[in-house]
Amino acid sequence: MIKKGMSREFVIKELLKRHEQDVSYESGRILGSMLTSTPPIAREAYNIFLDTNLGDPDLCDGAKSLENEVIGWLGNLLGNPDAIGYILTGGTEANLMAMVMAKKIHGDKNAEIIVPKSAHFSFDKIEVILGIKVLKANLNGLVVDVDSVKRLINEHTCAIVGVAGTTEFGAIDPIPELSDLALDNNLYLHVDAAFGGFVIPFLKDLNYEVPDFDFGLKGVSSITIDPHKMGLAPIPAGGILFRDETYLRGGVDTPYIGLGKQFTPSSTRSGASVAATWTLMRHLGREGYRKIVHRCMEHTRLLADGASEFAEVIPPVMNVVAIKIRDKDLSLVVKRLEELGWKSSVTRKPPCIRVVVMPHLTEHHINEFLRDLRSVVLNLE
Ligand SMILES: Cc1ncc(COP(=O)(O)O)c(C=O)c1O
Repeated sequence: MIKKGMSREFVIKELLKRHEQDVSYESGRILGSMLTSTPPIAREAYNIFLDTNLGDPDLCDGAKSLENEVIGWLGNLLGNPDAIGYILTGGTEANLMAMVMAKKIHGDKNAEIIVPKSAHFSFDKIEVILGIKVLKANLNGLVVDVDSVKRLINEHTCAIVGVAGTTEFGAIDPIPELSDLALDNNLYLHVDAAFGGFVIPFLKDLNYEVPDFDFGLKGVSSITIDPHKMGLAPIPAGGILFRDETYLRGGVDTPYIGLGKQFTPSSTRSGASVAATWTLMRHLGREGYRKIVHRCMEHTRLLADGASEFAEVIPPVMNVVAIKIRDKDLSLVVKRLEELGWKSSVTRKPPCIRVVVMPHLTEHHINEFLRDLRSVVLNLE
């Protein structure tokens, strides 16, 4: 650290210079992220609650009341207004907390969980952190093969996991079948809807054919739903919802900050991102989010139709487009796109160029990308 501090002007100037090195969502160049720019009203809310810590609820009745309301609204969106839960740092912590509870409920030292091969890498982290075994079920196309899950179940299984909106393809696992399987085997079922939670309910409103995935299915024990993805909230905001309070196990006493207990992995928790989430949900309402999803799906269609003129496109289920570039080296395609300023990403199986059609992408950005992608693909040896 420097010995003597510098002036505000100097420090902020330096900061702004550094920020110029970051790619902005507004540039329309970020194609592979599930995050987006924070609307101004949510920035305001964030600033107001900047210093609040939900880990010390005695000090922040206001922020805590916002979290309670957000959890109620999310529960309502996911078919269970009585759900309980928390806003954590993201989908990883939300998945982690769900698996902590599943392990506690099962009470088995050799606990295993079964996730689809398509699950987010947060489950690999969970394997390391919790010391549980993560078994990976085969896929049937892009979604989990329920028979493969069935074959992996044994006396150590403490949870099965389904994904509603996979990270790579936006695919939705057959959650109704997983729910039946969980009920038949008395198993905990966690649904990772970190991305899909703020998309699928609105797709239903818009009459898209999408499978059920929420607490309306009796076998669903918990759901991850992230405000900092398609909820448009600033980082850190990942939601975990449990069907009811019986799922909360193993709370830790918090002796020097009141007489309460904490169940969440993190101790200090940001009230700011909760306030921003509350503000967005209050300001946009279901109608506002539906409009955003509608626009993203229109852009998804524009991209999928345009790309199918020169490549093969996997039919998108939600606002994630995967483009197969046959007979070309995909890493070279990515390199050429990077040279043109595009921050794209790729999928593993099948290998594709992946675009998450987030709200920051406009029709203009999509058309520019299509023009560049077409030229890269046609000119590559
Ligand atoms: C389906 C899914 N689950 C979990 C996560 C992890 O979320 P986070 O990066 O907020 O921890 C992601 C991130 O993209 C995701 O797509």
